[in-house]
Amino acid sequence: MSQIESNKQLESRRILLIIGGGIAAYRSLDLIRRMRDRGWTVKTILTRSAVEFVTPLSVAALSENTVHLELLSLTEESKMGHIELARWAEAIVVAPATANLMARVAVGMADDLATTVLLATNRPILMAPSMNLEMWGNSATRHNHALLQGRGMEFVGPDSGDLACGEYGAGRLAEVPEIIAAIDRILHRHLTASSLAHKRFLITAGATREAIDPVRYISNHSSGKQGYALALALRNAGAEVILVSGITTLPAPAGIKTLAVTSAREMLSACLEQLPVDGAICTAAVADWRVAEAAPQKIKKIRDQQTLTLELVQNPDILATLSHHPSRPDLVIGFAAESESLIANAKIKLAAKGCDWIIANDIAANGAVFGSDYNQVAIITAAGVESLPQMTKLEVANHITQRIISHFNPAGGVK
Ligand code: PMT
Repeated sequence: MSQIESNKQLESRRILLIIGGGIAAYRSLDLIRRMRDRGWTVKTILTRSAVEFVTPLSVAALSENTVHLELLSLTEESKMGHIELARWAEAIVVAPATANLMARVAVGMADDLATTVLLATNRPILMAPSMNLEMWGNSATRHNHALLQGRGMEFVGPDSGDLACGEYGAGRLAEVPEIIAAIDRILHRHLTASSLAHKRFLITAGATREAIDPVRYISNHSSGKQGYALALALRNAGAEVILVSGITTLPAPAGIKTLAVTSAREMLSACLEQLPVDGAICTAAVADWRVAEAAPQKIKKIRDQQTLTLELVQNPDILATLSHHPSRPDLVIGFAAESESLIANAKIKLAAKGCDWIIANDIAANGAVFGSDYNQVAIITAAGVESLPQMTKLEVANHITQRIISHFNPAGGVK
């Protein structure tokens, strides 16, 4: 699809806006106005507490549409049931997303119209949180945020600034143009989703674990979050995804064939069994070494023995094997976690492994990458280096996916 066609289609989009009950709810009125300016059809749901902050009448007037309030309204159900409403929308925006609403969605509640629609939908969901900074920083909200992201929901904001409660910090609803830009990105992706419809992708994720004996092992701190986010992003873009997952605590994502493995050798054979594929992305942190021979019984601690020598041998390199395989995927992407000389070291890995692109993670920048919900990467290809700012792993995944779509559809112009 050309950029012009795509822009034209963006003019007649259908957005369902769910307004949560927070002080920032009044800003949803401006959001509705800006969405209407773009020619989008906007339907709205107000939660019970949102009605305390904005009136259904003003929302109806600005959206030029009926406002949906109740889960079981005889008149509304006869016209448009909650399932139909969930299907009608091309994207669902929750603004403001309060801590309470996020928590209820995280546990899968369906006790009002907003949560029921969010549970019943298969459309992309964008959340724009707004709350007090302590509520945003609370580990319960952090957990819910990560959980919802892991299920593929996207977030815009919150921004930092003066909060309604008189405090200063992270928790302000994102600015309306920021929210509109995020919706634009989702809609663009939605329009181009079919671009990867007939493509098969293999993704490795998580840490491998190499047994020393039945109770001890060699491993690393990879959580699998970056790889799982990529699997979701590619699935959302219409691709068939096979996720070969090492050790992780993440649940297997819906709609993605997930093969659980433990060691590097198991990961390699699971990958080779999936060939041919159109693309392979190796995000896994694979143990470079394993003990030459794992002990069949627990190694005993001997009183006077101060040292223990383990003989290590190199594990097979999955990325290099895929890059040089007779059924080499059209696009092979590796990851490189570097703490110094990020680009130079990543370029060395790109050449050594023989892959097409390498995604360099700066593990020195802005704290840890392993296990974090955030990442800061540079995409290194033959065409050059694209350095991205720090963002969530799902945003990184979406960005890489857009580059992959462009790779497979060079005429599509999607960037
Ligand atoms: O899992 P998270 O907590 O979300 O963290 C994500 C991550 C930091 C693990 C991920 O983004 C990442 O950078 N993964 C690669 C880590 C790394 O630097 O690995 P490496 O330098 O050992 O290997 C470079 C590349 O070769 C990687 O694509 C790796 O998957 C691949 N490799 C390495 C060794 C091996 N035996 N086989 C491989 O396929």
